[in-house]
Amino acid sequence: MQSDEIRTKFLKFFEARGHKIIPSASLVPENDPSVLFNTAGMQPLVPYLLGQEHPMGKRIVDVQKCVRTGDLDDIGDNRHFSFFEMLGNWSLGDYFKQDAIKWSYEFLTSKEEGLGLDVNRLYFTIFEGDENAPFDQESKDIWVNCGIPENRIYALPADDNWWSPGDNGPCGPCSEMFYDMSGNVGDLNKEKFLEALKKETVIEIWNDVFMEFEKKDGKVIGKLKQKNVDTGAGLERITAVMQGKQTAYDTDLFSSIGAVLIPVGHDIRKKRIIADHIRTSVFLISDGVIPSNKDQGYVLRRLIRRAVFCFSDHRMKDEEVSVLVDMIVIKYGDIYTNIKDKSQHIKDVIIAESNKFNQTILQGLKEFEKGIDPFVLFTTYGFPIELTVELAKEKGQTVDLEDFKKKMAEHQKLSQTSSAGMFKGGLANHNEKTIRLHTAHHLLLAGLQAIVDKNIKQRGSNITKERLRMDFLCDHKLTDEEKQKVQDWVNDKIKQGLEVVRKEMPLAEAQKVGAEMEFGAKYPEVVSLYFIEDKDGNPISKEFCGGPHVKNTSELGTFKILKEEAVAQGIRRIKAVLL
Ligand code: SER
Repeated sequence: MQSDEIRTKFLKFFEARGHKIIPSASLVPENDPSVLFNTAGMQPLVPYLLGQEHPMGKRIVDVQKCVRTGDLDDIGDNRHFSFFEMLGNWSLGDYFKQDAIKWSYEFLTSKEEGLGLDVNRLYFTIFEGDENAPFDQESKDIWVNCGIPENRIYALPADDNWWSPGDNGPCGPCSEMFYDMSGNVGDLNKEKFLEALKKETVIEIWNDVFMEFEKKDGKVIGKLKQKNVDTGAGLERITAVMQGKQTAYDTDLFSSIGAVLIPVGHDIRKKRIIADHIRTSVFLISDGVIPSNKDQGYVLRRLIRRAVFCFSDHRMKDEEVSVLVDMIVIKYGDIYTNIKDKSQHIKDVIIAESNKFNQTILQGLKEFEKGIDPFVLFTTYGFPIELTVELAKEKGQTVDLEDFKKKMAEHQKLSQTSSAGMFKGGLANHNEKTIRLHTAHHLLLAGLQAIVDKNIKQRGSNITKERLRMDFLCDHKLTDEEKQKVQDWVNDKIKQGLEVVRKEMPLAEAQKVGAEMEFGAKYPEVVSLYFIEDKDGNPISKEFCGGPHVKNTSELGTFKILKEEAVAQGIRRIKAVLL
């Protein structure tokens, strides 16, 4: 049975039982900033599980796109995927355990309407009870009434059989269904069942959650207004089961993608990572995510870069991206039409990101060889820490993750500080004009050093939205010619459209780089630097600075020096504007 048929059968089965089919929600939650992605089918339905009326009624069935990136390191084995589809049927305060369990059983075993699985290969778990809810006798009785022998039903604690999306939200005891992948596991006692689970000779294929409770800050606080059913069956797993494969990578879900990857070589794990990550990237981009350094965009960036990294020469050619995306569109485009509609955009985004990575990766690899700090590799060369760990592993080395984490924490503090508006230079606010003047300020200092004296140091600055003001150490009044040349120099850099790049690194590294520091300022252990780089990537300006800045000097307009004057012995002041 092909994956398309499994989806259709599931939807039709529940449609025939009064459920309305709804399309998958976007991977990016619409109203829930607490999570980056929908990680389960229930997430977009939370308001309705809490009691809001769903426009389609109380019985819903869907196939929801999900992304989970908590265990990226495990991807490449048989079971982990960063993207998956969850088949789910929903009772929003309507039917409860009796129908939910009976229908799960029928769908799994019915040859006509369902999957026709051999009941002798199925196992079941129920909730054993704790202070929040009693042993789930009702579910056990229902399974027994379906004809399941008691020695195939196991009671397990909340760790296994209480489902919640996190520390907050609707939750409840669940009953799970498992499939014997080997075909000859036979009868098991609970201990043997748990062993088989660990060895993955049996795997979970479906979860019926009886959502009648609510959690707050990690504690169950009581019952919801209504009793809900949230069921979830991973399409990847079900497809593997139906096609007699150990993993979804060997099913029709991945076969065309796999075919494209034959030239990549023999490392199965790497091929799987590429297939998984590119598939996820396609779906994320189709839902509006673009690579960036934070939140969803950062996850996407990591996925693309990690995929590129898995190619043998750490390069993903434009044609390879194009064919991979085409294959994914052929496989999924009729169901998720936005990936078909946006296929060119998806290709462009992946190609742009992968090229960006290619540009820096060679440099990054060189730095890695030199033994440079993983944190610097991350902030300066865009090397996700996982890549550094992977590179190190290949060389039999280890990475000090604790140290990395410490620096990252510092880095985050720093980003918050800068986004809260506390940065040097006395910038009054962040509006566009001041941001542009701020970047011009960096160019002016670099220009003074390039034209007048390379030893010129800044001694103070002030920016309003009208003008910038810079005080600097200099032993003479600038001549008209010097002023003109500095102004021309700055305007030339503006015209060249140079990139303004933010990098973060440990203070000691930054000092080695020789960036401009503010006299007498105290800097944290990890600092933010702004580089303005020429077309060959050489910095023409580098300053310790929290930002913000424009992305490219072309945004500045025309630079004009208004005034040059003395403020004290050996200290000169320039006022300048952007027109
Ligand atoms: N919410 C449950 C799960 O994700 C069932 O859909 O497993």
